[in-house]
Amino acid sequence: MLMAITREISPAIRQCELTHLTRAPIDLDRARAQHADYEWALVEAGITVRRLPTTDDMPDSVFVEDIAVILDELAVITRPGAVSRRAEAPAIMDALVKTRALHFRPMVMIEEPGTLDGGDVLVLGTRVYVGSSSRTNAAGIDQLRRHATRAGYTVQALPVRGCLHLKSAVTAVGPETVLLNPAWIPEDAFADYERIAIDPRERHAANAALLPDRVIYPAAFPRTRERLEAAGVKIRPVDVSELAKAEGAVTCCSLIFEV
Ligand code: GLY
Repeated sequence: MLMAITREISPAIRQCELTHLTRAPIDLDRARAQHADYEWALVEAGITVRRLPTTDDMPDSVFVEDIAVILDELAVITRPGAVSRRAEAPAIMDALVKTRALHFRPMVMIEEPGTLDGGDVLVLGTRVYVGSSSRTNAAGIDQLRRHATRAGYTVQALPVRGCLHLKSAVTAVGPETVLLNPAWIPEDAFADYERIAIDPRERHAANAALLPDRVIYPAAFPRTRERLEAAGVKIRPVDVSELAKAEGAVTCCSLIFEV
C-alpha cells in the first residue's frame, strides 16, 4: 500500500524561504484549496494521505519532501540547508513511526556539518542523484552516499545551478524517463534515460510528481504538458500557483512510500 505524508500550510508561509524568487503576496485560502486538490490527486491515484498539522512558526513546513528521503530499505532524515526549516523534522519522524514506515526500514540522520534537502535527491531505481546546491553540501552528500551505498544504491552528485533544488531541474515521469530543463542540468548526466526537455518558455516546468500510473503536474505549464502527453505520460493537472510563489512545486508537497 502506498502512503503519502503531507502537511497543512502554515499561516506563516508568507515569510517562507526564497532563494531565486522575489516575494509576492500569497493568498492563504487559495493556497490551501490548491493543496487540498493536490492531496485529492494523490487519493485518486489510490494513495492513502496522512496530513500533519503545523504551527505558525514553520513557514515552509508544507514542503515535507525536504525533510526525509525514504528508500525501500531505509529512511534518511535530512538536515535542511535553511536553518529556519530544521524544526520541521520531529513531526515527520513521528509520522514515519505512526504510519509504520519504519517497520522494516531503519532510520538514519544527516548530521552536522552535513546539510541535505530532500528536494535535491532524485531516486531512479537503484541510482540516487543528489544535487550540490545552496541547501545541500558536500558533507550531506557524503553521508547520504554512505547510507545509500550500504543499501545497494549508487550515488551521483550533480551541481545545481540557477534553481533551488535538483528536482527543480529534473524529475522522473516514467520508470526510464526524465523531464528536465537543459538550462539548469546537463542532459548528458541522464544519457541512460529517455529524456523530455521542458518548453524553454516554461522555466519551472521540470518538476513533476510521478505516481504509479500518472503524473501530478502543474497546470501552469501547458506547452511542456503537450510534450509529456505526446510521449504517452498520463497527466493529472493541479493548480499550485500560490505554492509556486513560495518556491515550491509538486514533488515537494508529499513524502510517498510503501507500507
Ligand atoms: N520556500 C521553499 C524553500 O525555500 O525551502
